[in-house]
Amino acid sequence: MSSLFQSEKLEILFDRATMQERLQELADEVCQDHATIEKPLVVIGVLKGAALIMSDLVRMLDRPVEMDFIRCASYHGGTESSGEIELLLDVSMDLRGRHVLVVEDIIDTGLTIKFVLEHLESKGAESVKLLSLLEKPTKNTSGVHGDYVGYEINDHFVVGYGLDLKEELRNLPFVGVCKDTSVVG
Ligand code: IMP
Repeated sequence: MSSLFQSEKLEILFDRATMQERLQELADEVCQDHATIEKPLVVIGVLKGAALIMSDLVRMLDRPVEMDFIRCASYHGGTESSGEIELLLDVSMDLRGRHVLVVEDIIDTGLTIKFVLEHLESKGAESVKLLSLLEKPTKNTSGVHGDYVGYEINDHFVVGYGLDLKEELRNLPFVGVCKDTSVVG
């Protein structure tokens, strides 16, 4: 077992109840903003990090939705962005004329989500909004910000609630700060 899983090197930043309360507030805002659209809202999760957030979020959205996923590579398993984004899995739905909500785990430099938004916008969606659980404003060079943001955080490496360190720790039920990222791998 990873020595970070239960460790004093992991500090809880947002516990499960806090995350879920905040997600419910964001879900309510999303519903209000999309109250007049007739077709289901297309909720697209950016894998893998957003999978856990999305499964909570869609159950909090009190309106019809359809779900899809997209996957890119940017971090290549480390803790620093490579700056190069590669599309690994594309959405399978036809987005023409649809209202889309993209769900991201965290915006760091913003390069990943900029790539994703440009890619999805090119598919003819009627509107594309972005929900990000977390944002690290200090390193964001992309000019892209979430329409719905859970929390802004300092430049820490965080794990849990979908966020990984070298593919581990996604299943922690809280968001924690890694005080020593060398422990895994
Ligand atoms: P960006 O392209 O620099 O904004 O990086 C976004 C992606 O990097 C996110 O979708 C995460 O997968 C990963 N990432 C950025 N910061 C963290 C972090 O603190 N913990 C875990 N993953 C992170």
